[in-house]
Amino acid sequence: MVLEPKIIGGVCLTAHPVGLKKALESQIDYVKKQGSVDMPKRVLVIGGSTGYGLATRISAAFAGDAGTLSVSFEREPTDRKPGSPGWYNNKYFDEAAKAAGLTAESLNADAFADDTRETVIRRIKELFGQVDLVVYSLASPVRKDPKTGEMYKSVLKPLGDTYTAKSVDFLKGTVGDASIPTAEGDDKANTVKVMGGEDWNLWIDALMDAGVLAEGVKTMAYSYIGPEVTYAVYRAGTIGAAKEHLEKTAGDLDAKLKTIGGEAFVSVNKALVTRASSVIPVVPLYISLLYKIMKDMGIHEGCIEQMYRMLSSKVYGPEGTVRDENGLVRLDDWEMREDVQAKVTAQWDSVTTENLESMTDVAGFRSDFMQLHGFGWDGVDYGADVDTLG
Ligand SMILES: NC(=O)c1ccc[n+]([C@@H]2O[C@H](COP(=O)([O-])OP(=O)(O)OC[C@H]3O[C@@H](n4cnc5c(N)ncnc54)[C@H](O)[C@@H]3O)[C@@H](O)[C@H]2O)c1
Repeated sequence: MVLEPKIIGGVCLTAHPVGLKKALESQIDYVKKQGSVDMPKRVLVIGGSTGYGLATRISAAFAGDAGTLSVSFEREPTDRKPGSPGWYNNKYFDEAAKAAGLTAESLNADAFADDTRETVIRRIKELFGQVDLVVYSLASPVRKDPKTGEMYKSVLKPLGDTYTAKSVDFLKGTVGDASIPTAEGDDKANTVKVMGGEDWNLWIDALMDAGVLAEGVKTMAYSYIGPEVTYAVYRAGTIGAAKEHLEKTAGDLDAKLKTIGGEAFVSVNKALVTRASSVIPVVPLYISLLYKIMKDMGIHEGCIEQMYRMLSSKVYGPEGTVRDENGLVRLDDWEMREDVQAKVTAQWDSVTTENLESMTDVAGFRSDFMQLHGFGWDGVDYGADVDTLG
Protein backbone atom coordinates (compact mmCIF):
# COMPACT_ATOMS: atom_id res chain seq x y z
CA MET A 1 0.00 0.00 0.00
CA VAL A 2 1.00 3.65 -0.41
CA LEU A 3 1.68 5.27 2.96
CA GLU A 4 1.23 8.95 3.73
CA PRO A 5 1.62 10.93 6.94
CA LYS A 6 -1.66 11.09 8.85
CA ILE A 7 -1.30 13.66 11.62
CA ILE A 8 -3.87 14.52 14.25
CA GLY A 9 -3.16 16.88 17.16
CA GLY A 10 0.64 16.72 16.72
CA VAL A 11 0.58 12.92 16.64
CA CYS A 12 1.45 11.09 13.44
CA LEU A 13 -0.59 7.90 13.14
CA THR A 14 1.32 6.38 10.24
CA ALA A 15 4.96 5.45 9.64
CA HIS A 16 6.93 4.64 6.52
CA PRO A 17 9.17 1.55 6.80
CA VAL A 18 11.48 2.45 3.91
CA GLY A 19 12.11 5.94 5.30
CA LEU A 20 12.66 4.57 8.79
CA LYS A 21 15.30 2.21 7.49
CA LYS A 22 17.07 5.24 6.02
CA ALA A 23 16.73 7.09 9.31
CA LEU A 24 18.33 4.22 11.16
CA GLU A 25 21.14 3.84 8.63
CA SER A 26 21.95 7.54 8.75
CA GLN A 27 22.29 7.38 12.55
CA ILE A 28 24.49 4.29 12.31
CA ASP A 29 26.65 6.02 9.67
CA TYR A 30 27.02 9.06 11.90
CA VAL A 31 28.37 7.16 14.90
CA LYS A 32 30.65 4.98 12.81
CA LYS A 33 32.23 8.11 11.35
CA GLN A 34 32.88 9.56 14.81
CA GLY A 35 35.11 6.71 15.90
CA SER A 36 34.87 4.05 18.54
CA VAL A 37 33.92 4.47 22.18
CA ASP A 38 35.79 2.40 24.72
CA MET A 39 32.93 1.10 26.84
CA PRO A 40 31.59 -2.12 28.37
CA LYS A 41 29.81 -4.46 26.01
CA ARG A 42 26.54 -5.55 27.63
CA VAL A 43 23.77 -2.98 27.56
CA LEU A 44 20.08 -2.97 28.50
CA VAL A 45 18.00 -0.11 27.10
CA ILE A 46 14.52 0.36 28.54
CA GLY A 47 12.72 2.46 25.91
CA GLY A 48 15.21 1.83 23.10
CA SER A 49 12.95 2.02 20.05
CA THR A 50 12.81 5.76 19.31
CA GLY A 51 14.26 9.14 20.30
CA TYR A 52 16.97 9.28 22.93
CA GLY A 53 16.80 5.58 23.85
CA LEU A 54 17.31 4.46 20.26
CA ALA A 55 20.16 6.93 19.77
CA THR A 56 21.85 5.59 22.92
CA ARG A 57 21.43 2.04 21.68
CA ILE A 58 22.86 2.86 18.25
CA SER A 59 25.84 4.67 19.79
CA ALA A 60 26.55 1.81 22.22
CA ALA A 61 26.33 -0.81 19.47
CA PHE A 62 27.93 0.84 16.48
CA ALA A 63 30.52 3.01 18.25
CA GLY A 64 30.92 0.98 21.45
CA ASP A 65 30.68 -2.48 19.89
CA ALA A 66 28.18 -3.43 22.58
CA GLY A 67 25.53 -6.12 22.56
CA THR A 68 22.15 -4.60 23.34
CA LEU A 69 18.87 -5.86 24.70
CA SER A 70 16.03 -3.38 24.45
CA VAL A 71 12.49 -3.31 25.71
CA SER A 72 9.92 -0.96 24.23
CA PHE A 73 6.19 -0.86 23.64
CA GLU A 74 5.29 -0.45 20.00
CA ARG A 75 2.30 -1.09 17.78
CA GLU A 76 2.80 -4.05 15.47
CA PRO A 77 1.87 -3.62 11.82
CA THR A 78 -0.72 -5.69 10.00
CA ASP A 79 -0.70 -6.24 6.27
CA ARG A 80 -3.18 -3.35 5.98
CA LYS A 81 -1.92 -0.92 8.62
CA PRO A 82 1.59 0.28 9.40
CA GLY A 83 3.04 -0.25 12.86
CA SER A 84 4.45 2.55 14.99
CA PRO A 85 7.90 3.89 14.03
CA GLY A 86 9.62 2.11 16.91
CA TRP A 87 8.42 -1.28 15.70
CA TYR A 88 10.34 -0.83 12.44
CA ASN A 89 13.30 0.75 14.23
CA ASN A 90 13.59 -2.36 16.41
CA LYS A 91 13.42 -4.68 13.42
CA TYR A 92 15.98 -2.76 11.36
CA PHE A 93 18.25 -2.20 14.33
CA ASP A 94 18.35 -5.91 15.16
CA GLU A 95 19.05 -6.77 11.52
CA ALA A 96 21.84 -4.20 11.20
CA ALA A 97 23.45 -5.13 14.53
CA LYS A 98 23.38 -8.85 13.78
CA ALA A 99 24.87 -8.21 10.34
CA ALA A 100 27.70 -6.39 12.15
CA GLY A 101 28.24 -9.41 14.40
CA LEU A 102 26.66 -7.84 17.48
CA THR A 103 24.18 -9.40 19.87
CA ALA A 104 20.86 -7.57 19.58
CA GLU A 105 17.37 -8.34 20.74
CA SER A 106 14.30 -6.12 20.94
CA LEU A 107 11.43 -7.11 23.19
CA ASN A 108 8.05 -5.54 22.56
CA ALA A 109 6.40 -5.45 25.97
CA ASP A 110 5.09 -3.12 28.68
CA ALA A 111 8.18 -2.09 30.65
CA PHE A 112 6.02 -1.20 33.65
CA ALA A 113 4.91 -4.83 34.10
CA ASP A 114 6.63 -7.28 36.46
CA ASP A 115 6.31 -10.05 33.84
CA THR A 116 8.42 -7.97 31.48
CA ARG A 117 11.11 -7.58 34.14
CA GLU A 118 11.15 -11.36 34.56
CA THR A 119 11.47 -11.92 30.80
CA VAL A 120 14.26 -9.35 30.55
CA ILE A 121 16.17 -10.93 33.45
CA ARG A 122 15.87 -14.35 31.82
CA ARG A 123 17.11 -12.99 28.48
CA ILE A 124 20.01 -11.12 30.15
CA LYS A 125 21.12 -14.40 31.75
CA GLU A 126 20.85 -16.21 28.41
CA LEU A 127 22.44 -13.53 26.23
CA PHE A 128 25.00 -11.83 28.46
CA GLY A 129 25.03 -13.27 31.98
CA GLN A 130 25.03 -9.72 33.36
CA VAL A 131 24.76 -6.14 32.07
CA ASP A 132 27.18 -3.25 32.54
CA LEU A 133 24.88 -0.40 31.55
CA VAL A 134 21.13 0.09 32.08
CA VAL A 135 19.60 2.99 30.17
CA TYR A 136 16.15 4.11 31.29
CA SER A 137 14.54 6.17 28.51
CA LEU A 138 10.81 5.76 28.82
CA ALA A 139 8.32 8.44 27.84
CA SER A 140 4.75 7.31 28.34
CA PRO A 141 1.37 8.94 28.93
CA VAL A 142 0.16 6.03 31.08
CA ARG A 143 1.43 3.46 33.54
CA LYS A 144 -0.29 0.46 35.09
CA ASP A 145 0.91 -0.06 38.64
CA PRO A 146 2.27 -3.61 38.70
CA LYS A 147 1.16 -4.21 42.30
CA THR A 148 -2.39 -2.82 42.27
CA GLY A 149 -3.25 -2.97 38.56
CA GLU A 150 -4.42 0.65 38.76
CA MET A 151 -3.88 2.78 35.64
CA TYR A 152 -2.25 6.21 36.06
CA LYS A 153 -2.21 9.00 33.46
CA SER A 154 0.43 11.69 33.18
CA VAL A 155 -0.52 15.23 32.15
CA LEU A 156 1.46 18.23 30.91
CA LYS A 157 0.09 21.08 33.01
CA PRO A 158 1.47 24.02 35.03
CA LEU A 159 1.28 23.83 38.80
CA GLY A 160 0.69 27.55 39.23
CA ASP A 161 -2.15 29.48 37.59
CA THR A 162 -3.55 28.72 34.15
CA TYR A 163 -0.66 29.51 31.91
CA THR A 164 -1.01 31.37 28.66
CA ALA A 165 1.98 31.37 26.38
CA LYS A 166 3.01 31.61 22.81
CA SER A 167 2.71 28.40 20.91
CA VAL A 168 3.08 27.16 17.35
CA ASP A 169 1.09 24.89 15.12
CA PHE A 170 4.17 23.58 13.36
CA LEU A 171 2.22 21.97 10.53
CA LYS A 172 0.11 25.01 9.69
CA GLY A 173 2.94 27.44 10.49
CA THR A 174 0.84 29.64 12.75
CA VAL A 175 1.76 31.26 16.06
CA GLY A 176 -0.92 31.84 18.67
CA ASP A 177 -1.57 31.83 22.37
CA ALA A 178 -2.06 28.51 24.08
CA SER A 179 -3.84 28.46 27.39
CA ILE A 180 -2.93 25.51 29.54
CA PRO A 181 -5.17 24.95 32.54
CA THR A 182 -3.52 24.43 35.89
CA ALA A 183 -3.13 20.93 37.29
CA GLU A 184 -5.82 19.82 39.65
CA GLY A 185 -6.69 16.90 41.91
CA ASP A 186 -4.23 14.05 41.50
CA ASP A 187 -2.67 15.37 38.26
CA LYS A 188 0.71 16.00 39.83
CA ALA A 189 0.85 12.75 41.80
CA ASN A 190 -0.29 10.76 38.77
CA THR A 191 2.35 12.32 36.52
CA VAL A 192 5.04 11.55 39.10
CA LYS A 193 3.71 7.98 39.26
CA VAL A 194 4.09 7.58 35.47
CA MET A 195 7.19 9.62 34.67
CA GLY A 196 8.99 9.78 38.02
CA GLY A 197 11.56 7.32 39.31
CA GLU A 198 9.36 4.63 40.89
CA ASP A 199 9.55 2.29 37.92
CA TRP A 200 13.30 2.85 37.38
CA ASN A 201 13.78 1.91 41.03
CA LEU A 202 11.70 -1.28 40.56
CA TRP A 203 13.85 -2.19 37.57
CA ILE A 204 17.15 -1.73 39.38
CA ASP A 205 15.92 -3.62 42.45
CA ALA A 206 14.71 -6.53 40.31
CA LEU A 207 17.93 -6.64 38.26
CA MET A 208 20.08 -6.40 41.38
CA ASP A 209 18.13 -9.08 43.26
CA ALA A 210 18.50 -11.39 40.25
CA GLY A 211 22.27 -10.83 40.26
CA VAL A 212 22.37 -9.60 36.65
CA LEU A 213 24.04 -6.26 37.35
CA ALA A 214 27.79 -6.50 36.78
CA GLU A 215 30.35 -5.07 39.18
CA GLY A 216 30.76 -1.39 38.26
CA VAL A 217 27.38 -1.19 36.49
CA LYS A 218 26.10 2.24 35.48
CA THR A 219 22.46 3.20 35.12
CA MET A 220 21.13 6.43 33.75
CA ALA A 221 17.77 8.05 33.06
CA TYR A 222 17.01 11.18 31.04
CA SER A 223 15.66 14.50 32.18
CA TYR A 224 15.11 18.05 31.00
CA ILE A 225 15.35 21.42 32.71
CA GLY A 226 15.11 24.06 30.00
CA PRO A 227 14.79 27.82 29.80
CA GLU A 228 12.54 30.49 31.26
CA VAL A 229 10.03 30.37 28.38
CA THR A 230 9.10 26.73 28.94
CA TYR A 231 9.54 26.84 32.70
CA ALA A 232 5.90 27.20 33.80
CA VAL A 233 4.71 24.33 31.68
CA TYR A 234 7.77 22.09 31.90
CA ARG A 235 10.12 22.32 34.84
CA ALA A 236 7.65 24.00 37.20
CA GLY A 237 4.79 21.88 35.87
CA THR A 238 3.58 18.35 36.48
CA ILE A 239 6.29 16.83 34.28
CA GLY A 240 8.97 18.83 36.12
CA ALA A 241 7.71 17.34 39.40
CA ALA A 242 8.14 13.89 37.85
CA LYS A 243 11.66 14.77 36.69
CA GLU A 244 12.57 15.99 40.18
CA HIS A 245 11.41 12.63 41.50
CA LEU A 246 13.49 10.86 38.85
CA GLU A 247 16.56 12.89 39.87
CA LYS A 248 15.97 12.12 43.55
CA THR A 249 15.63 8.44 42.67
CA ALA A 250 19.03 8.59 40.97
CA GLY A 251 20.52 9.56 44.35
CA ASP A 252 18.86 6.58 46.07
CA LEU A 253 19.97 4.18 43.34
CA ASP A 254 23.47 5.62 43.35
CA ALA A 255 23.80 4.75 47.04
CA LYS A 256 22.40 1.25 46.46
CA LEU A 257 24.71 0.51 43.52
CA LYS A 258 27.82 1.66 45.39
CA THR A 259 27.76 -1.77 47.08
CA ILE A 260 28.71 -3.32 43.72
CA GLY A 261 30.96 -0.46 42.63
CA GLY A 262 28.26 0.95 40.38
CA GLU A 263 26.55 4.30 39.98
CA ALA A 264 23.24 5.84 38.98
CA PHE A 265 22.70 9.28 37.55
CA VAL A 266 20.42 11.41 35.44
CA SER A 267 21.53 12.99 32.20
CA VAL A 268 19.85 16.28 31.34
CA ASN A 269 19.48 16.25 27.57
CA LYS A 270 18.78 18.90 24.99
CA ALA A 271 15.23 19.78 23.84
CA LEU A 272 14.74 17.92 20.58
CA VAL A 273 11.95 16.78 18.31
CA THR A 274 10.79 13.32 19.35
CA ARG A 275 7.37 11.73 19.47
CA ALA A 276 7.18 12.66 23.14
CA SER A 277 8.28 16.31 22.92
CA SER A 278 6.07 17.27 19.96
CA VAL A 279 2.96 17.17 22.11
CA ILE A 280 4.24 19.39 24.95
CA PRO A 281 2.69 22.88 24.76
CA VAL A 282 5.14 25.79 24.09
CA VAL A 283 8.05 23.38 23.51
CA PRO A 284 7.74 23.11 19.68
CA LEU A 285 8.05 26.90 19.29
CA TYR A 286 11.01 27.00 21.65
CA ILE A 287 12.68 24.12 19.77
CA SER A 288 12.06 25.87 16.42
CA LEU A 289 13.76 29.04 17.66
CA LEU A 290 16.54 27.11 19.41
CA TYR A 291 17.29 25.06 16.27
CA LYS A 292 17.73 28.23 14.21
CA ILE A 293 20.02 29.82 16.79
CA MET A 294 22.12 26.71 17.38
CA LYS A 295 22.36 25.85 13.68
CA ASP A 296 23.48 29.43 12.88
CA MET A 297 26.13 29.11 15.61
CA GLY A 298 27.24 25.70 14.29
CA ILE A 299 26.44 23.88 17.56
CA HIS A 300 23.17 22.10 16.75
CA GLU A 301 22.87 18.43 17.69
CA GLY A 302 20.15 15.83 17.19
CA CYS A 303 19.51 12.76 19.38
CA ILE A 304 22.31 10.75 17.83
CA GLU A 305 24.91 13.52 18.18
CA GLN A 306 23.85 14.05 21.80
CA MET A 307 24.00 10.39 22.76
CA TYR A 308 27.29 9.77 20.98
CA ARG A 309 28.79 12.77 22.79
CA MET A 310 27.36 11.48 26.05
CA LEU A 311 28.89 8.01 25.81
CA SER A 312 32.20 9.14 24.34
CA SER A 313 32.93 12.11 26.58
CA LYS A 314 30.50 12.29 29.54
CA VAL A 315 30.07 8.67 30.62
CA TYR A 316 32.90 6.55 29.17
CA GLY A 317 35.41 9.28 28.33
CA PRO A 318 38.80 9.69 29.97
CA GLU A 319 37.29 11.31 33.07
CA GLY A 320 34.55 8.68 33.60
CA THR A 321 31.11 10.06 34.44
CA VAL A 322 31.24 13.85 34.31
CA ARG A 323 28.66 15.29 36.68
CA ASP A 324 27.78 18.85 37.71
CA GLU A 325 27.54 20.07 41.31
CA ASN A 326 24.08 18.48 41.59
CA GLY A 327 25.23 15.09 40.39
CA LEU A 328 23.71 15.54 36.93
CA VAL A 329 25.34 14.82 33.58
CA ARG A 330 24.71 17.87 31.39
CA LEU A 331 24.09 17.28 27.71
CA ASP A 332 22.06 20.48 27.68
CA ASP A 333 25.32 22.37 28.23
CA TRP A 334 25.33 23.91 24.75
CA GLU A 335 21.57 24.60 24.74
CA MET A 336 21.83 26.40 28.07
CA ARG A 337 24.91 28.44 27.16
CA GLU A 338 24.38 32.08 28.07
CA ASP A 339 24.89 33.32 24.52
CA VAL A 340 22.33 30.83 23.18
CA GLN A 341 19.72 31.61 25.81
CA ALA A 342 20.28 35.38 25.49
CA LYS A 343 19.29 35.06 21.83
CA VAL A 344 16.21 32.96 22.68
CA THR A 345 15.09 35.55 25.22
CA ALA A 346 15.76 38.47 22.89
CA GLN A 347 13.85 36.93 19.99
CA TRP A 348 10.97 35.10 21.70
CA ASP A 349 8.54 38.04 21.87
CA SER A 350 9.10 39.02 18.24
CA VAL A 351 8.10 35.70 16.67
CA THR A 352 4.80 35.95 14.79
CA THR A 353 2.99 33.87 12.18
CA GLU A 354 4.34 36.27 9.53
CA ASN A 355 8.03 35.89 10.41
CA LEU A 356 7.90 32.33 11.79
CA GLU A 357 9.57 30.67 8.80
CA SER A 358 12.43 33.19 8.58
CA MET A 359 13.01 33.86 12.26
CA THR A 360 12.84 30.26 13.47
CA ASP A 361 13.71 26.85 12.11
CA VAL A 362 10.12 25.60 12.19
CA ALA A 363 10.94 23.97 8.84
CA GLY A 364 13.64 21.94 10.63
CA PHE A 365 11.16 21.00 13.34
CA ARG A 366 8.62 19.86 10.75
CA SER A 367 11.22 17.95 8.78
CA ASP A 368 12.59 16.18 11.89
CA PHE A 369 9.03 15.29 12.92
CA MET A 370 8.25 13.84 9.49
CA GLN A 371 11.57 12.01 9.30
CA LEU A 372 11.16 10.30 12.63
CA HIS A 373 8.03 8.73 11.16
CA GLY A 374 9.92 7.77 8.00
CA PHE A 375 8.61 10.58 5.79
CA GLY A 376 10.57 13.21 3.85
CA TRP A 377 13.73 11.17 3.23
CA ASP A 378 15.58 11.76 -0.03
CA GLY A 379 15.71 8.77 -2.31
CA VAL A 380 12.49 7.18 -1.05
CA ASP A 381 9.69 6.79 -3.59
CA TYR A 382 6.71 7.78 -1.49
CA GLY A 383 4.33 6.99 -4.35
CA ALA A 384 5.38 3.35 -4.40
CA ASP A 385 3.61 0.48 -2.75
CA VAL A 386 5.28 -0.59 0.51
CA ASP A 387 5.05 -3.74 2.54
CA THR A 388 3.66 -2.58 5.89
CA LEU A 389 5.31 -5.58 7.54
CA GLY A 390 8.69 -4.00 6.81
N1 LIG B 1 12.77 14.89 23.54
C1 LIG B 1 13.30 15.77 24.34
O1 LIG B 1 13.37 16.96 24.04
C2 LIG B 1 13.90 15.32 25.65
C3 LIG B 1 14.82 16.16 26.30
C4 LIG B 1 15.39 15.74 27.49
C5 LIG B 1 15.01 14.53 28.07
N2 LIG B 1 14.09 13.74 27.42
C6 LIG B 1 13.70 12.48 28.07
O2 LIG B 1 14.19 11.37 27.32
C7 LIG B 1 13.39 10.23 27.64
C8 LIG B 1 12.95 9.57 26.34
O3 LIG B 1 12.10 10.45 25.64
P1 LIG B 1 12.10 10.63 24.06
O4 LIG B 1 11.88 12.08 23.82
O5 LIG B 1 13.25 9.94 23.47
O6 LIG B 1 10.71 9.88 23.73
P2 LIG B 1 10.25 8.82 22.65
O7 LIG B 1 8.76 8.93 22.62
O8 LIG B 1 10.98 8.93 21.38
O9 LIG B 1 10.67 7.40 23.32
C9 LIG B 1 9.95 6.80 24.34
C10 LIG B 1 10.33 5.34 24.47
O10 LIG B 1 9.59 4.79 25.56
C11 LIG B 1 9.01 3.56 25.13
N3 LIG B 1 7.83 3.28 25.93
C12 LIG B 1 6.78 4.07 26.22
N4 LIG B 1 5.91 3.41 27.02
C13 LIG B 1 6.43 2.18 27.24
C14 LIG B 1 6.02 1.05 27.99
N5 LIG B 1 4.90 1.04 28.70
N6 LIG B 1 6.82 -0.04 27.97
C15 LIG B 1 7.97 -0.09 27.25
N7 LIG B 1 8.41 0.97 26.54
C16 LIG B 1 7.66 2.09 26.54
C17 LIG B 1 8.71 3.76 23.67
O11 LIG B 1 8.47 2.51 23.04
C18 LIG B 1 9.99 4.48 23.24
O12 LIG B 1 11.00 3.52 23.04
C19 LIG B 1 12.22 10.74 28.50
O13 LIG B 1 12.53 10.53 29.85
C20 LIG B 1 12.21 12.22 28.18
O14 LIG B 1 11.62 12.99 29.20
C21 LIG B 1 13.55 14.11 26.22
